[in-house]
Amino acid sequence: MDEKHVLITGGAGYIGSMLTGKLLQRGYRVTVLDDLLWGGEALLPYFTHPSFRFAKVNVTEPDAARPFFDGVDAVIHLAAIVGFPACQQVGPKVARLYNTEATRYMYDFANKVGAKRFVFSSTYSNYGIAANSDPVDETSALNPQSLYAETKIEAEQHLLAQGVGAPCAPVILRFATLFGVSPRTRFDLIINQFVLEAMTKGELIIYQRGYHRSFVHVSDTVEGIILALEADREKVTCEIFNLGSERGNMSKDQIVEAVARIVPRVAVQYKDLSFGGDMRDIRVRFDKIRSVLGFEPKVTVEQGIHEVHDAIRLGLIQDPLSPKYRTRPSSCSSAADLVEASAGDVAGAFCV
Ligand SMILES: NC(=O)c1ccc[n+]([C@@H]2O[C@H](COP(=O)([O-])OP(=O)(O)OC[C@H]3O[C@@H](n4cnc5c(N)ncnc54)[C@H](O)[C@@H]3O)[C@@H](O)[C@H]2O)c1
Repeated sequence: MDEKHVLITGGAGYIGSMLTGKLLQRGYRVTVLDDLLWGGEALLPYFTHPSFRFAKVNVTEPDAARPFFDGVDAVIHLAAIVGFPACQQVGPKVARLYNTEATRYMYDFANKVGAKRFVFSSTYSNYGIAANSDPVDETSALNPQSLYAETKIEAEQHLLAQGVGAPCAPVILRFATLFGVSPRTRFDLIINQFVLEAMTKGELIIYQRGYHRSFVHVSDTVEGIILALEADREKVTCEIFNLGSERGNMSKDQIVEAVARIVPRVAVQYKDLSFGGDMRDIRVRFDKIRSVLGFEPKVTVEQGIHEVHDAIRLGLIQDPLSPKYRTRPSSCSSAADLVEASAGDVAGAFCV
């Protein structure tokens, strides 16, 4: 799909801001629609690029979004209320409007203008707690533990219902929890936040100590999205892919040990606390994305910890406690209030 026009929703975010740069480098025209809930500085490096276009649009408002789809060849839909704390804060109505309804609008517009591909950003949160200790794959039962996962599953179902004959081919990517630095780094994700806590407080407070999660670097995620964008239609239409790698399946203890090896003098406290909404303990299989799309993540968790540590230590990120590095409200009752998000505590580290 070289030289084609890609529309990215949520392109100012953690993933989208890096993806935008990568697509421009590869010769795509890129339109970003984003309501800038967390600011827009991450897009400034591309602002004057001749193949870049930005519109401040809330994609839950179809009339505002529709005009930007003309001439679009593919859509990458990233915009969402991200993570279970944010979804809980805004409540089911708003969470469904942002994460489920808006996905329907975006897909319908893509289809109507003749776009050929719709890449949807879903999450391995959808698996919830596994029925046994076996790793989950794309055929495993979904057992969502949060409103966030419920909204993503509903959006997936709408896309899968389009069927393999759908002119605009939907592809669903269930991302592992991301880590690493991007133009809009997030510090409310477990690895990034552990590094920050270790550096700023000298201690880590760990909940759900032995629980496993799965992790993938933001730049590898971007590569995976591009593979899904460019793959032959028959390989991806109405297909679900877990995006990550088995070596990213790690317990919180292992993450803490890795952080402590790199950030010196860290005290660790363990607490037994549940969050009533996202008690995932999960190992994930990634055979499908490896065999079908040839996806092989390059960046290890250890490299990612070094990267985040260096970005803070060297002053490249000056105020990592700022709300602009989070996707999580402190107290809010509407989506607009999300911009009031406060600096995080470790409990927030589990949102993806
Ligand atoms: N980061 C992770 O670990 C992770 C894991 C699994 C899935 N995902 C999914 O990937 C996608 C991107 O995540 P991210 O980490 O980049 O999040 P992010 O919060 O950094 O980016 C989301 C972007 O979407 C924009 N946005 C939200 N609602 C919008 C709306 N209605 N209209 C226009 N713009 C809107 C925000 O302003 C923001 O720039 C999300 O759909 C998320 O659910 C992320």
